[in-house]
Amino acid sequence: MNPKYIYNVIVAAGSGSRFGASLPKQFCMLEDRPVLMHTIENMQKALPGSHIILVLNPDFFEYWDEICRKYGFYSPKIVAGGNNRWQSVKNAISQIPHDAEIITIHDGARPIVDKAMVCRVINALDNGFGAIPVVPITDSLRQLNKSGSMPVNRELYRAVQTPQAFHASKLREAYTLPYDSSFTDDASVMSAAGYDDLLIVDGDSYNIKITHPLDIEIASIYLRYK
Ligand code: C5P
Repeated sequence: MNPKYIYNVIVAAGSGSRFGASLPKQFCMLEDRPVLMHTIENMQKALPGSHIILVLNPDFFEYWDEICRKYGFYSPKIVAGGNNRWQSVKNAISQIPHDAEIITIHDGARPIVDKAMVCRVINALDNGFGAIPVVPITDSLRQLNKSGSMPVNRELYRAVQTPQAFHASKLREAYTLPYDSSFTDDASVMSAAGYDDLLIVDGDSYNIKITHPLDIEIASIYLRYK
């Protein structure tokens, strides 16, 4: 696949309310630079020659500009995010040229994104129109019900990561559906559009999504180890 036709959307317009800091988690320091700069650089390293589109909350455009100057960081093209992840992705898709063949979507809050894993996801697209990285569940699982909860077989479930990659035309079509609160990622939007047989590839247990403050410490260790 010619990387010229691959567009990588990095969604970073969330407020990070669970993180509980004054700055959204994607702007917090991870070692020498903000989280988001690691994410962008690692995606660039994973797919050299491809395009990156960064989705930010417009309230942070000026701040982003400031920190890019401070760290001598060259920003990719920026698109304004929406009120939820789905709207942020939709806004980015609308800015992607029509000659795009593959669109990947990656959470800005996953800075430890590894080249080998990204390549597994992209290469899987030779055999289908969508591919997503997954990891096994290591905790035991219970399903909640009216009378309490019951155990479920964790072997039947996988945790889904990003980047997720899709044939551009199929993703565009899926994103014409109206919003549904069950859309937590792009695979769920594709499934709602009838594209259920997405290919699953091995994700990476180091590819964590920064969610709580301690995750920054964990990501620092992973960054040094990788
Ligand atoms: O909230 P959650 O951690 O699931 O968000 C996943 C990703 O989606 C994050 O990188 C976040 O910045 C992004 N997002 C977005 N626009 C929103 C909400 C979330 O780009 N309105």
